Amino acid sequence: MSGGLHLTVTKCRAFGFILVFIGSIMTVGLSVYFLAVRPNYPAANSCSSPKRPLSQSNFLGGLWSNKSVLVENVIRLPRTVLPRHYDVRLWPILEKGNSTVLGRVTIDVQCLQSTDRIVLHSSDINVDLKSVQVIERGAVEESLFIEGVDYETVTEFLVIRLNVERKVKLAKGTNYTLSMNFVANLTDTSAGFFRSVYIEDGVERYMAVSQMEPTDARRVFPCFDEPNMKAIFTVTLGRHRDMMALSNMPLINTTKMNGMEDFYWDHFAPSLLMSTYLVAFAVANFTKIEADVDNSNWKFNIYVRTSAISQAQYAKVIGPKTQTFYENYFQVPFPLPKQDLMAIPSAFVGAMENWGLLTFGESVLLYDEDVSSLDDRQTVVELVTHELAHQWFGNLVTMDWWTELWLKEGFTSYVECLGADFVDPSLERLQQFVTSGLQTVMRLDALESSHPISILVNHPDEIGELFNDISYKKGAAITRMLASFIGDQSFRDGLTYYLRIHQYGNAVQDDLWNAFDKQAKLDRIFLPTKVKTIMDTWTVKMGFPVITVQRDYMSRNISVTQKRFLIRKSNSTTADTTVYLWWVPLTYTADFETIETNWLADNQSSKNLTLESEIGMNNWIIFNINETGYYRVNYDAHNWKLIAQQLMTNHTVISVINRAQIMNDALNLARAGLLHYETPLNLTKYLEREVEFLPWESTLTALSYLNSMMQRTPGYGLLKNYVMKLLLPLYNSLGFVHRTSDSHLTGKLRRKVVQCICFMGHKDCITRAIESYSQWMADPGNITIVPSVVKGVVACTAIRHGGELEWNFAFKRFRESNVASEKATLLSSLTCTQESWILAKMLEMCLNPAVGFRTQDALDVIKTLAENPIGRFMTFNFVREKWPEMTKIFNSIHSLAHVFESMTKSFNTDMELKELSDFVGKNKELLVSAMTRSTQQSIDRVRSNLSWMRQNYQQVVNWLQQNNPATST
Ligand SMILES: *[C@@H]1O[C@H](CO)[C@@H](O)[C@H](O)[C@H]1NC(C)=O
Ligand SMILES: *[C@@H]1O[C@H](CO)[C@@H](O)[C@H](O)[C@H]1NC(C)=O
Ligand SMILES: *[C@@H]1O[C@H](CO)[C@@H](O)[C@H](O)[C@H]1NC(C)=O
Ligand SMILES: [Zn+2]
Repeated sequence: MSGGLHLTVTKCRAFGFILVFIGSIMTVGLSVYFLAVRPNYPAANSCSSPKRPLSQSNFLGGLWSNKSVLVENVIRLPRTVLPRHYDVRLWPILEKGNSTVLGRVTIDVQCLQSTDRIVLHSSDINVDLKSVQVIERGAVEESLFIEGVDYETVTEFLVIRLNVERKVKLAKGTNYTLSMNFVANLTDTSAGFFRSVYIEDGVERYMAVSQMEPTDARRVFPCFDEPNMKAIFTVTLGRHRDMMALSNMPLINTTKMNGMEDFYWDHFAPSLLMSTYLVAFAVANFTKIEADVDNSNWKFNIYVRTSAISQAQYAKVIGPKTQTFYENYFQVPFPLPKQDLMAIPSAFVGAMENWGLLTFGESVLLYDEDVSSLDDRQTVVELVTHELAHQWFGNLVTMDWWTELWLKEGFTSYVECLGADFVDPSLERLQQFVTSGLQTVMRLDALESSHPISILVNHPDEIGELFNDISYKKGAAITRMLASFIGDQSFRDGLTYYLRIHQYGNAVQDDLWNAFDKQAKLDRIFLPTKVKTIMDTWTVKMGFPVITVQRDYMSRNISVTQKRFLIRKSNSTTADTTVYLWWVPLTYTADFETIETNWLADNQSSKNLTLESEIGMNNWIIFNINETGYYRVNYDAHNWKLIAQQLMTNHTVISVINRAQIMNDALNLARAGLLHYETPLNLTKYLEREVEFLPWESTLTALSYLNSMMQRTPGYGLLKNYVMKLLLPLYNSLGFVHRTSDSHLTGKLRRKVVQCICFMGHKDCITRAIESYSQWMADPGNITIVPSVVKGVVACTAIRHGGELEWNFAFKRFRESNVASEKATLLSSLTCTQESWILAKMLEMCLNPAVGFRTQDALDVIKTLAENPIGRFMTFNFVREKWPEMTKIFNSIHSLAHVFESMTKSFNTDMELKELSDFVGKNKELLVSAMTRSTQQSIDRVRSNLSWMRQNYQQVVNWLQQNNPATST
């Protein structure tokens, strides 16, 4: 899955959604897991806000909830009976007031071990007990006597018991057919088979579509819902004359439904061997767009609602191109006769890689050149390349169990960058990985409450929680590191070998490491130990190291040590016996021409590595070339000075990515107390001449912490003036208007710069934004007045400095827009208002879907309001007052946890700490168990903000005073 954004808990937890401010995508969704590649969404209301989808699972609480005690053999199905073939027949009724699904499933099973019961999964399904049948296959087909059918709620098992007294048993080696009829309901939450309601041409329409991953196939039809119980699926879907039906495989014929005028059965070809979580169904009144494909092995189609056809052109071009790229890259053909991409109008965000039928939220598949922004285009590429890469990595070869979810998500999140660089090189996707992927997840992985990539999970709730940045982004970061130390060619050949050996089967991470070891040996790549030994240190341990480089300027020796990097240390007393040492691939240079490599081993005895060098005392050294290693680097004071001098004299000698790395490392080292703030702040001086996106992006992201700590302090004026002075040259040269000669990254930089400088109150920026917005208000149909790249910041600024009229205009556009990504941008801008009564009205609208915001948008609105400096305390009061009501409406503990996090993350005074603790103390019973952890994390975070203020605030203010643009010339 990918990117997404979903809000409810049960499903798509990690996906976040976003209200994005500029740029973005909002993803508003309901369920939440998907998202791997989540686009970055800056939150509204701040300049250098951390870019992340608001509801993504940043919060890692609960992962080791007490459900872990449900041990594996209780929650996992027995292997006595295995499914070989399913015949699934479903008829979703799509009428107003009736969302029943009538179903029948026939499963051919093979008995591997004699047993008196068949155990499979089923949840929220009404099985017609009288219809349950077990037939022995063979010469004489015989129906077995069933004693009873039980349902076990906790494990979601359906247990079919045969008659013990009469000694009826399934015999080893024999095949049986199990069949039953059942009734279920379409859901409203993008879990299982769900109904999406949307308006087209003023008419309310319904469609039905499925979302199974990870454990919701069992909500659609009774099945053996574990990834390694692969089988063949033959699907039949019932539909009205006006609708079409889609599934993983092509349609083979259509028959009339008996006794039902206007209704038909669509019969699909049998699938290849596949896992239940990849099965897909859809019934909708959609239009098919056929892409041009220059081969005869498969067809490629896009399905959208009719009025969105023009927005599918981009996906239509890049889709088949990407699929062909992967066929060449993996050296394994795409095995299905067709690939369908479907855009779902509402209730679904993110995307899902169902084999042969990919589903996307509209905002991440559709793109309107005139209305959508550059980032929207990037998002479409990210999601399309991600889901298509899964067709091999995940679908053809599947992880054995969810514990290894990261294997498919992490690898795919890296490989998608290669696909994106091929289909749209102008996006420079791989180049952006350091800021969008690696540095983003490092923020999370630097917390004591992080978790290892590879983690034992059993219960569905635990599985759902794995769909987070650690699996996707850290998984991708260590994959990129692996590709860098074994080399791109060996990496690719190793993958091909792995896919060919395990195709149509399942694999564990060691299978992949073995494939790379074999390849590395063949290619004579030097490695200090086995790939598995190296990679296990990164997958089994949480966190990552900071490498400290100490130069001896007399002997010219360089000593290198490693230590776990933590952004703050708690006084936690729980004994963690893990030895936090890693196998670290080192790369370093003194001129970016000669690059040296070496390894730090993961044992205590070789903890300290000494490298000999020829580098003189006036030359810098830089480690972690292009930040391919997943670690931070600290240096001795003199080397930091040398780097700062180089940046001031000629920064282009240092690679763009390393400039981004140096700034991000230095600011984070200071935040963690490993470096005096003077060092990173001195480094920032060079930025007046920096014109590249990546160093700015990584600096502003790291500075956002200072911003949020200082925003309500007397020192903020100094910070603001200093940052504005750095940005001014760029603002003057880039302006508001996109030029056709500008690269994609220049466009992103423009948006960032305008966003920051307007937010910080630059007069000219605000005036231009307001002017541009009022011209648009005067001529609403003219989509060219506000350049799409700055539409978010223009609307936000005009609304922030305006009143009711400006707000109403954006709200009306939001309601009427036919383009999902534009809707998202506008929704986010609405939260920029500074009018208390409008803020209050928006909060009220969040709890009233009938006249206000849809439930799936509401939590995101609340979260974004919580980041508005004026809205923060109103939101906190509102949430405190409405907490019981909110827990009912949103019924998603994880999303509420994100609201909590957004609200309190910049609290940094004793008073705020007290109010927070009081609220938590008073609401113990409402905060339920999963929230306990995240509220405790919020309290810990506020405590650490307090201590940051005590230790660093004055230091930073002093530096800013000495470097104040107003007092210096
Ligand atoms: C929904 O429609 C089906 C098929 O017509 C019917 O069997 C069922 O009773 C209806 N359910 C409701 C709640 O109206
Ligand atoms: C049972 O089914 C499996 C797979 O569908 C098949 O390979 C096997 O030959 C069958 N066994 C018998 C005894 O028919
Ligand atoms: C489907 O919804 C109806 C009406 O809300 C309810 O009575 C019925 O129990 C539901 N069926 C299932 C299988 O949950
Ligand atoms: Zn994915």
